[in-house]
Amino acid sequence: MRTAEIKRRFLAHFEQRGHTVVPSAPLPAVHDPNLLFINAGMVQFVPFFLGQRVPAYRRAVSVQKCLRTPDIDEVGKTSRHGTFFQMNGNFSFGDYFKADAILFAWELSTTPVERGGLGLDPERIWATVYLDDDEAIDIWRRTGLPAGRIVRRGKRDNFWSMGIPGPAGPCSELYYDRGPDYGRDGGPEVDEDRYLEFWNLVFMQYEITDVSSKDDFTIVGDLPARNIDTGMGLERIASILQGVDNLYEIDEVRPILNRAAELTGRSYGARSGHAANRSHPDDVRLRVVADHVRTALMVIADGVAPANEGRGYVLRRILRRAVRAMRLLGHDGPALPHLLPVARDCMAPSYPEVAADFGRIADQAYAEEDAFRATLKAGTTILDTAITAARRAGGRRLSGDQAFQLHDTYGFPIDLTLEVAAEHGLTVDQDGFRALMTDQRARAKADARARKTGHADLSAYRDLLAAHGPTDWLAYHSLDTDSRVLALLGPDGQPTPAANAGDIVTALLDRTPFYAESGGQAPDAGTIISAGARAEVIDVQRPITGLIAHRLRVLDGTIAVDDRVHAAVDSDWRIGARQAHSGTHVAHAALRQVLGPTALQSGSYNRPGYLRLDFTWRGALSPVTRSEVEEVANQAIRADLPVTATRMPLAAARQAGALALFGETYDDTVRVVEIGGDFSRELCGGTHVDRSAQISALAITGESSVGTGQRRLEAVTGIEAFRYLARERDLVTRLADQLKSPREELPDKVHALIGRAKSAERRAERLQKLLLQTEAARLVSTAVDVTGFAYAGTVTTDGADPRQLAETIRDRFPSDRPGIAVVASPADNGSRLVIAANTAATARGANAAALIRAAPGGRGGGSPTLAQGTWAGSNPAMVLPAIGTLLADLTN
Ligand code: ALA
Repeated sequence: MRTAEIKRRFLAHFEQRGHTVVPSAPLPAVHDPNLLFINAGMVQFVPFFLGQRVPAYRRAVSVQKCLRTPDIDEVGKTSRHGTFFQMNGNFSFGDYFKADAILFAWELSTTPVERGGLGLDPERIWATVYLDDDEAIDIWRRTGLPAGRIVRRGKRDNFWSMGIPGPAGPCSELYYDRGPDYGRDGGPEVDEDRYLEFWNLVFMQYEITDVSSKDDFTIVGDLPARNIDTGMGLERIASILQGVDNLYEIDEVRPILNRAAELTGRSYGARSGHAANRSHPDDVRLRVVADHVRTALMVIADGVAPANEGRGYVLRRILRRAVRAMRLLGHDGPALPHLLPVARDCMAPSYPEVAADFGRIADQAYAEEDAFRATLKAGTTILDTAITAARRAGGRRLSGDQAFQLHDTYGFPIDLTLEVAAEHGLTVDQDGFRALMTDQRARAKADARARKTGHADLSAYRDLLAAHGPTDWLAYHSLDTDSRVLALLGPDGQPTPAANAGDIVTALLDRTPFYAESGGQAPDAGTIISAGARAEVIDVQRPITGLIAHRLRVLDGTIAVDDRVHAAVDSDWRIGARQAHSGTHVAHAALRQVLGPTALQSGSYNRPGYLRLDFTWRGALSPVTRSEVEEVANQAIRADLPVTATRMPLAAARQAGALALFGETYDDTVRVVEIGGDFSRELCGGTHVDRSAQISALAITGESSVGTGQRRLEAVTGIEAFRYLARERDLVTRLADQLKSPREELPDKVHALIGRAKSAERRAERLQKLLLQTEAARLVSTAVDVTGFAYAGTVTTDGADPRQLAETIRDRFPSDRPGIAVVASPADNGSRLVIAANTAATARGANAAALIRAAPGGRGGGSPTLAQGTWAGSNPAMVLPAIGTLLADLTN
């Protein structure tokens, strides 16, 4: 059964049982500070489980795109670990519980294929339950499953959470016995390759915190309702139903693997046994390639670009591992242009956007591969140098430090270092390398822990939301309002009754006109004033959906909980913010008009007067293109287009062609901001001007690279645009004054000046050479005789190049006269020394290099005819007679 068909049957099965079909959320987990990527089907439903939001349905079914990377090193080695995967899930929000969840799963699994089920043999299904969950055991027994195939397991296996604070609960898992070819008898506890888990039913009923591992966490309490969250790994069930060994061999992945095998001339599975864990390294690498290429496609499709941190780093690592695996398989040229289109064809039937957007996706992936190949090349050069140095010093080993530096600074993988070192007969201090890696990981973990503590503090906000309901938010309509202080939180995040002058606290109000930072727009600035106090608003955030938190600095008086206050946004600030945010949309639309639709915004930031916009594009924009973008943007401003914001269902927004940008909300109802109808249409929660002319002007101030395939446009708007242009005008005025030129003629004037400067430099060079020749001629004519050698020694101080002078003197000696030239010059530590000897001199036994080395305090070397070095004395003139004496000694 094809993967797409399994998916269809899953959705249909639950739709027939009253579930609403909910589309997959995008892979980046933008609403959870503790998660980079969605890693389970339930993530988008967390607020429903926690009771923070009320869903429009009580039963839902979805096929969620997921990414898990903690086991990335296991990819390809077992049949179970993939990075990208899809999770079929059915959910109940306070509706049905254990009995129905188990029954629904059993029905779909065992109903014969011809009757719409998955047709698994009931005799081969096993179930696990949490230790004391007798209720689940009873329900399983009712399906006809014998007691011998129901196993009790502990927290580690049968208590599920996201690994971070949030909803959790005991679970029951379904396993399928793939038969004795795959491993030993005895059930899931004995062999998880033979008994393959394919469905996890979680009975969500607790909220947990302080999670340090799978079985170490604290239960905070019961969730408001008992819920169901299930997850059936689509790839796993596909591998079972397609009768293949592992998830790399299913219909959505195998074509990529085949193409990689073809490119590298390796035959997949030639040396493998049945079980994946007996695989040959080539097979493992082919699986890594297939898995990672597909993952990269899906991750880039959802708006992530390769970077050195966060989500972008995960993507970068995945892409590099794929490229690296291809290299180890013997493919040296670019690999992704051959593989990514195959992944696209595999995934497009379920995800049409990967085909529609393939130009952009491919651009980013290929650019990253090119960059990595360049890294490998540079790393190889550095490694070669290290190897040569180690061998010259008689060593047979590269230090852990060197290997770590190559890895850390140049992104050069350790296995490659090992391989190249081995080719040169060297070993690598792997223990030293690992110790340094462990240190680095410990640092990273400490960082992650610090972030999690921040998350745990959210419980104070959750309590406030439960007690007072959501903040009445007026940002779209008003700039000021009367309001009441509901709570104050101190620097430790804990409630405090009052704050005094000088304190910085977080205030929750029952109603507020302040815009909280989101969608790239900076938070509003303003004041909160009560009868007895004045406070300045220094930051505004939305820590959890529904609550607006104001960070205040109390300027004078005391502000207390329950105080009546007047909250007012600084109106100048807000008009600036509206201009900048609408300016961002206008700039984005202008970019796409000029460059075409593949130029897509990947991030943005705006505050009053300033905006920046990151977008996918390879190569810098030419000055002409920049001007064109600016022209289109300012024409749109001048056209005074209406700006509207409309709430509509997500589907309607998509239909209207609204750009749904990475990082925005994907709620059922979205806000669509239009400027002049078709000119710009984006999903956006920001504050905007009413008509485009209110932006007044937009001036581009910069365009630069922010990573492979990513450009950044910066611009100023409103009064700042005028100020920027005025500064430029002043600059031109000053230049024109200095150059005494009409402004229009400045470029010609500067061009002419540069030309004159260049020819003056050339003339100076010619004169310098002439001087050198004259000086050389003088020195040759005044050369003294030292045991039959003409010896000319001098000290330069006037900046002439000592080596050039020494060579010129040497070459001016008549060819039949043995000549030695010595030029000394002052240097930072002592003197610099150049000695040149002509062939007649070397024929008589003189040697320039030997002379330098023989000089007391002399260092350096070269050839018999030219040597350079240093002399320890600080008075260069002193070395000249010494060399003369040596010359006499050496050649006598
Ligand atoms: N959320 C559960 C899982 O991911 C179903 O396994």
